[in-house]
Amino acid sequence: MHFFKKISDLQAYLNYQRSQNLSIGFAPTMGALHQGHMSLIEHTNKHSNISVSSIFINPTQFNDPTDLEKYPRTLEEDINLLYDHQLNTLFTPPVEEIYPAQGIHTPDFNFGRLDQVLEGVFRQDHFKGVAQVVHRLLEIVRPDDLFMGQKDYQQWTIIYHMLQQMESEVRLHMVPTVREADGLAMSSRNRRLTAEWRAKAPYIFRLLSEAQENYTLRPIAEICDQAISTLKEMGFRTEYFNMVDGYNLENVTSPEDHKKVVACVAAWAGEIRLIDNVILKEDHTFSF
Ligand code: PAJ
Repeated sequence: MHFFKKISDLQAYLNYQRSQNLSIGFAPTMGALHQGHMSLIEHTNKHSNISVSSIFINPTQFNDPTDLEKYPRTLEEDINLLYDHQLNTLFTPPVEEIYPAQGIHTPDFNFGRLDQVLEGVFRQDHFKGVAQVVHRLLEIVRPDDLFMGQKDYQQWTIIYHMLQQMESEVRLHMVPTVREADGLAMSSRNRRLTAEWRAKAPYIFRLLSEAQENYTLRPIAEICDQAISTLKEMGFRTEYFNMVDGYNLENVTSPEDHKKVVACVAAWAGEIRLIDNVILKEDHTFSF
């Protein structure tokens, strides 16, 4: 595995690979890696000649300073996992490389309401920070293909729109969510769950699965309200449980009128905020 901290060293290596006509696939992360991240690496390895991943805890996307401070940092374990999964190149830049003192230029992207709904209601400017860092990393790595998880469905959608606005040729791939055996979506934050909350956390996916079974049979609002009250009874603090259009992320009332429908949830399990989603209705006419 090739390991770089400096942009100039990474670029010298990747420029050489590019000159050999090798394709570059990129999967950005914030570390505390798990099998969900490894699935991105596997997809990248399979698809591209040179797989590149980054570990960078991006301060500009944390709206909550405590979340940034407590974000798990497990670099040594991460490196071992990536090595075991045959990653070709790891980039772990210090903050000054990504955000140098002289500043960086980020285009003024317009996401319309995409960054105002769902997460946008509860995490002010989060997606501005995500777009900023992904734009910066793409400028540095210049991949042919970019691999991101369905787990962060809204993030994926926003990056898709960012690439369109940039008129970028980078191909964005969506990697399905990897789950624990009991259904809990893998997340770096799961390791901070108490034993009690870890036992209850799979309920989130159970309710999403129930929504999947029922969304054509019962009114959407009823399913969502019921899910929120079940979560409340269990002690979760739910921020949203919505069924949305898979493209514009606006709430759906009649699923039959939409090509793609996704159920999305964010709920606090004690001190830990969990998000998850299930694609209820897939649009088979669209491929990434
Ligand atoms: P992070 O939360 O580390 O996630 C990195 C990538 O892994 C994202 O594309 C995310 O959707 C994907 N991922 C996380 N859990 C997953 C799971 N259980 N199954 C499949 N994929 C999963 O998302 C970020 O970092 C940051 O916002 C980033 C894009 C790196 C920008 O800072």
